[in-house]
Amino acid sequence: MRHFLEIDDLTVQELELVLELSAATNLPKSLNGQGVALIFEKPSGRTRNSMEMAVVQLGGHPMYIKPEELGIDSRETAEDVVRVMAGYHAVLAARVFDHGRLERMAAANTMPVVNLLSDLAHPMQALADLLTIEQVIGLKKVGKVAYVGDANNVWRSLAIGCSMLGIQTSVASPAGHGPNLGDLERVQVAGGSIQVTEDPDEAVQGADVVYTDVWTSMGQEEETSQRLDAFSRFTVNSDLMAGANAGSVFMHCLPAHRGQEVTNEVIESPQSKVFLQAHNRMHSARGLLSWIVGEVAQHD
Ligand code: CP
Ligand code: NVA
Repeated sequence: MRHFLEIDDLTVQELELVLELSAATNLPKSLNGQGVALIFEKPSGRTRNSMEMAVVQLGGHPMYIKPEELGIDSRETAEDVVRVMAGYHAVLAARVFDHGRLERMAAANTMPVVNLLSDLAHPMQALADLLTIEQVIGLKKVGKVAYVGDANNVWRSLAIGCSMLGIQTSVASPAGHGPNLGDLERVQVAGGSIQVTEDPDEAVQGADVVYTDVWTSMGQEEETSQRLDAFSRFTVNSDLMAGANAGSVFMHCLPAHRGQEVTNEVIESPQSKVFLQAHNRMHSARGLLSWIVGEVAQHD
């Protein structure tokens, strides 16, 4: 039984396999009438739609479940929820406020658990990001991937994923919003080198990809005004993009706040790959689900 709570739950070989599966358009209908429970404690456009369609494409039945229906840890424990769901569904996938809740569900070991975004990680996004980099530059050809902004869930999964594939990264964040020591260790253990700075210009120098995400993530809304101040020098604008390599691309997991972390000009420029990234969420979801269901079959 395998789980996917962070991208390094895969080995490097498994990550490469999932990316290959993600690029395939004729995968077997490995879900074949089985359910996939999709639990969302926070809103979602891309993740819900891409997961639902990926499940349908694999011959399965997606079931969207609102948190108030389950009442995880209020109506019943997270462990009991997953033990019950295992009788109906092949996979449980959840977007949660607290990563620990996913870990408890995975520890019950009754069905594969997939992270659809937590406070700590967004590995399904990282898969789509790597697939996009492969398509627009090539994973073997890409130089530095620069991330400008909050060292958040999206950054963490992307940095670890890049590191696993030997891609050099940089991260530029204001003081107090950069990676912690545990993050850096995890990125380095994964195998790559990372440049940490508080200077966006330094981070993008020599980069083939410039990536950013919102300054205030879901669950941090009460910090919005303090974050607007802290990140005011970290907008990805045309001047910053000009400091990256010629032919570099702009990436963002979306939703974007134009005028904050990115200017309208950059996100609408030919360098921007944000909608390809969003569309790749469905393809990479299909790849991951195929792999995780295959794993179950092999271990039964
Ligand atoms: N990028 C992403 O996860 O988008 P949603 O929050 O809309 O699912
Ligand atoms: N960092 C953002 C990503 C949204 C897809 C958040 O957690 O809200």
